[in-house]
This record gives sequence, structure tokens and C-alpha cells, in this order.
Amino acid sequence: MLEGSVHQMVLIGEIFATYRMSVGGEIAIVKMEDYPVPERENSRCYREYLAFRLATKIGLSVPCTSLRQDPQYGRLSVQQYVHGATKPTQSFLERIATRPLGMRIALFDILCGNHDRKPDNLLQLGTEIIPVDFNTTFQITTTSCDFDQETDIILARWFQIRGMLSLKPTHRQLLVDEARRLVERLDDSFLHSCLAEIPTPFCDSAEAEQVWDFLASRRDRLHASVSSWWDKNIAPLHLFDDDALMIAIRQHTR
Ligand SMILES: Nc1ncnc2c1ncn2[C@@H]1O[C@H](COP(=O)(O)OP(=O)(O)OP(=O)(O)O)[C@@H](O)[C@H]1O
Ligand SMILES: [Mg+2]
Repeated sequence: MLEGSVHQMVLIGEIFATYRMSVGGEIAIVKMEDYPVPERENSRCYREYLAFRLATKIGLSVPCTSLRQDPQYGRLSVQQYVHGATKPTQSFLERIATRPLGMRIALFDILCGNHDRKPDNLLQLGTEIIPVDFNTTFQITTTSCDFDQETDIILARWFQIRGMLSLKPTHRQLLVDEARRLVERLDDSFLHSCLAEIPTPFCDSAEAEQVWDFLASRRDRLHASVSSWWDKNIAPLHLFDDDALMIAIRQHTR
């Protein structure tokens, strides 16, 4: 049984069986794959681990996450709890969105197929921003021809209309550079070694093979998709002069 957990378990997931609880004397975010919790769904725990491994490789500070099997609770993901973090404010999110770190989070969500990004799933710690919650990633729900559309949706949601209006050619450089960096860092052998680390009860070889195909094909299309998103959506905005953009922003925020 998880040490010291019994008296300190707090169910924090509104949809999933996610707890804040003590593991080995440390507070952790624990997601449960087997333990039945009334009115909550069980998680696929390997997703949290895999996202942690991939994110760390590209310089995102997803908290340290491990997988374990507990005699009482079954399969679990255990993530280090970030003390003192808060939900980011809207103005902080607007500022971070167009910085390299913010862009990296958006690109990582495109790679992983994460459609659940929202302020609740971002932790602010001083000037640092930490993405969490990869419950719904790596799912083969879309065909590869929808990838451009997914890029469109995730980036438009990330920058928001006001942010998109303020994007400049220098931001294109940052975004495309971040995409290239992500593609280079997550090479075939790294993807294979991360998947190989996941014990079979959490993800069998057939599913691991599918996740590999999903990740490798999205990675290979990412850079082109991001560039064409910019050319299609942002380049036309530069036809407006600064005054016209300011009027459009004011109208939007009214
Ligand atoms: N490592 C962490 N450190 C501190 N707080 C965290 C951490 N991970 C998650 N949280 C907080 O706990 C909340 C729930 O976590 P998370 O979204 O990962 O669980 P969930 O199972 O998806 O929950 P839900 O069912 O509500 O979607 C987050 O919104 C965040 O506020
Ligand atoms: Mg969540």
C-alpha cells in the first residue's frame, strides 16, 4: 500500500479518478487506472509518464512522473506535486503565449494531440509555466489528413484572436524554430526508448506500436503544418496596417 496515503487522500479530478495524496511521505498527484471511483473515469496512466519523458526532452518542466503498481490501488501514475503553484491569470497567459516557452507548449500539444489545454492545466510558479494533464493524449482519433486542421485549432486557441492579431514576422521565426527544435530532439531512437520504458501492463506492445506511429507521423508533419498555418492565417493579417489592427483588437475586446 502507498505509504502514508490513507488519511490524506483528496479526490481532485472532476472527471477522472485523480487524487492529491501522500506517496512515500511526499505529496503527489496520483491518477488511477484500476481503482473504481464512483462517477469518475479511470486514466490511461502511461500517457502521463510518456508526456513527462517527451516534454522534458524538449525543455518543458512537466513534473517528474513515474508508473507503479500498488497492491491496493492497482496501476498508478505518480507525479510530483508542485507546491505554491497557481492557476495563471489571463494577462500572464497572453504574455507567455508568444514567448518561446509558450509556443513550445502549444507545439507539444499539437504533437501529442492534446485538446484539453486550458488555464486549469497550466501551473504558474513565478515566471515559470508548467503544463500538466495529458490524460487525453496520444489517441488515434483523427486521420493524418486532419493534422493541419488540428494545428489550426490548437494554435488559434492558444494565441486567441487578440494574440493572433499581434503576431509579427519575428514570432513566425520563433514558432518555426521551436517546431524544428522539437522535431530534432524527439528523434526515432528517443521515441523508441521512451515507449520501451513503459511496462507492458500499462501499454502492451500493440498499443505501443500504434502510439509510435502516431507520434512519428505527427512529428514528421509538424514543421510543415506550422509553417502553412502561419502562411494561411497570419500572413494575411500583415496586409493590415498597425492602426487597422488596433481598431480590430479594440473592437474584439469591447
Ligand atoms: N503536479 C501538480 N502539482 C500541483 N497541482 C497539480 C499538479 N497536477 C495537477 N494539479 C492540479 O490538479 C488539477 C487536476 O489535475 P489534472 O487536470 O491533471 O487531473 P484530471 O484527472 O484531468 O482532472 P479532471 O478530471 O478534473 O480533468 C489541475 O487542474 C491542477 O490544478
Ligand atoms: Mg484535467
